[in-house]
Amino acid sequence: MTLTSPDIKPLTRQNFPPNFVFGVATSAFQIEGATHEDGRGDSIWDTFCREPGRIRDGTNGDVACEHYHRLEQDLDLIQSLGVDAYRFSVAWPRIQPSGTGAANEAGLAFYERLVDGLSQRGIAAHLTLYHWDLPQALQDQGGWTNRQTAHHFAEYARIIGERLGHKVRSIATLNEPWCASILSYEIGEHAPGWHDRPAALSAAHHLLLGHGLAMQELRALKLSADLGTVLNLGPAYPATPADGAAAAVADGRFNRWFLDPVFRGEYPRDIWDGYGTDVPVVEAGDFEIIRAPLDFLGVNYYTRSYISASGEQPAGAVTTDMGWEVFPQGLSDLLIRLHADYTLPPIFITENGAAYPDTQNAEGDIHDPERVKYLESHLRAVLAAGEAGVDVRGYFGWSLMDNFEWAYGYSKRFGLVYVDYETQERTLKDSARWYQALAKS
Ligand code: FCB
Repeated sequence: MTLTSPDIKPLTRQNFPPNFVFGVATSAFQIEGATHEDGRGDSIWDTFCREPGRIRDGTNGDVACEHYHRLEQDLDLIQSLGVDAYRFSVAWPRIQPSGTGAANEAGLAFYERLVDGLSQRGIAAHLTLYHWDLPQALQDQGGWTNRQTAHHFAEYARIIGERLGHKVRSIATLNEPWCASILSYEIGEHAPGWHDRPAALSAAHHLLLGHGLAMQELRALKLSADLGTVLNLGPAYPATPADGAAAAVADGRFNRWFLDPVFRGEYPRDIWDGYGTDVPVVEAGDFEIIRAPLDFLGVNYYTRSYISASGEQPAGAVTTDMGWEVFPQGLSDLLIRLHADYTLPPIFITENGAAYPDTQNAEGDIHDPERVKYLESHLRAVLAAGEAGVDVRGYFGWSLMDNFEWAYGYSKRFGLVYVDYETQERTLKDSARWYQALAKS
């Protein structure tokens, strides 16, 4: 099995700065299952999955990877990979089944077992507060379009901070606010599945506000954990010079709309003007809250966008099972640009990975050379950014194991570890072994 081209030396830890963190990532709804156990309330994804046609393969999160019931086994699995860190999310509806009020002890106890189990195994816990599973009861009041949701989120953040904050290495407030707003309220592909741009921009604003309010609550607890947030970012490249203006808009809507409030305390003027009357209500003082200093920025990177009025595709593009172009240079370009344009805290690549239609052969092996190539080339892009002066402290492969890929259900496999959904058996793919060799090097 040749995992690296023969003329390039395989990556080892020696290539990376000392203390560079190698981790794997998941999120609650995508792996836990047990959606109706131990007092968990409905989330917007439970509701969304019940609506016909929303999920390509008609599945839901009820069982998923049964992680809720296989916690110890999965912790052992993570440990077997030799990684330093594990990024996971807490399901808000396990903690506050209707989004407000007293904490549900059974929910807290589950995540406490998780972080204690990581610590016993010498693995750093990187906790994300919100990876899209909003309590349905809050959606019934408008979800993120309701400003009050930001305040509820801050209260939930305090509950988690108080109980788990001293046991984790980092806390990220949000995962990918672009997805939780635009993809969910404007494009309608994610829960709650709306098609309403003003609502989406209002949701985005309240997510950012919720982030800032949660930062205030967490800071007040004086935790040793690093505090930050996670954005999904990707550069937009114009196919021709004539596509330059459109690429600037794409970049502004996807990247700057979230970066500028957090790091500059303002929305990008060009994009704000372009949105016309669709822009959100910003109250006095909002940006002061939103621009709270961060200890780290999490960057999720999968692909670039290629902007072409004629619909032209990039020459020679190779794509994953998601149809996403494999473009590692986009990650180094992105990081170098972020470093040039913003004053940033240390960066972690909190997600990066690829879906391929993996199958288990008769011997039980899963050969996924494309994923190995994807991971390796993107890790090299991180190294290139580092050489250009960008302070990247760690990398989390998405994902620990195959899981519920949102609107695609179980049809897209992003795991380093293969999951047989019939038996719930977990098997290391070649990519997991490759990553393990790197992590243990
Ligand atoms: C990201 C999500 C993550 C996963 C990957 C493929 O946008 O944060 O949950 O679905 O995409």
